[in-house]
Amino acid sequence: MPKLTVEGYAPVDVPDGRRLVLAMEQDAGVDVLHACGGGARCTTCRVEFISGEPEQITEAELERLTQRNLTGVRLSCQIRCDQDMTLRAVSRLEGSGRADPGSTPTDDINPPPIWVDR
Ligand code: FES
Repeated sequence: MPKLTVEGYAPVDVPDGRRLVLAMEQDAGVDVLHACGGGARCTTCRVEFISGEPEQITEAELERLTQRNLTGVRLSCQIRCDQDMTLRAVSRLEGSGRADPGSTPTDDINPPPIWVDR
């Protein structure tokens, strides 16, 4: 089982392949935002990797990050936990002014992932 470490939170073991945004919220107890429900549209689920950043990226994530000119972050809704990962939760409900984190993402990555190398 991959180990997920979010800075400031206790490390947790998560099922292999678990969607990162769900592992953060439901396993590590992080109040990560996911305003669009995990559809690679809002970028509120973004995280900063310290180690274990995946080499592959979904086309949807790449398009959104490029469109928004975002560098140094990844979209946790577009990542599977398939190796140990250490990261910072840089977009959380606390301090966001939002009423809630957004609708809960499904277990599977959506849109259906098309993987490309970074
Ligand atoms: S881009 Fe909206 S939840 Fe990930």
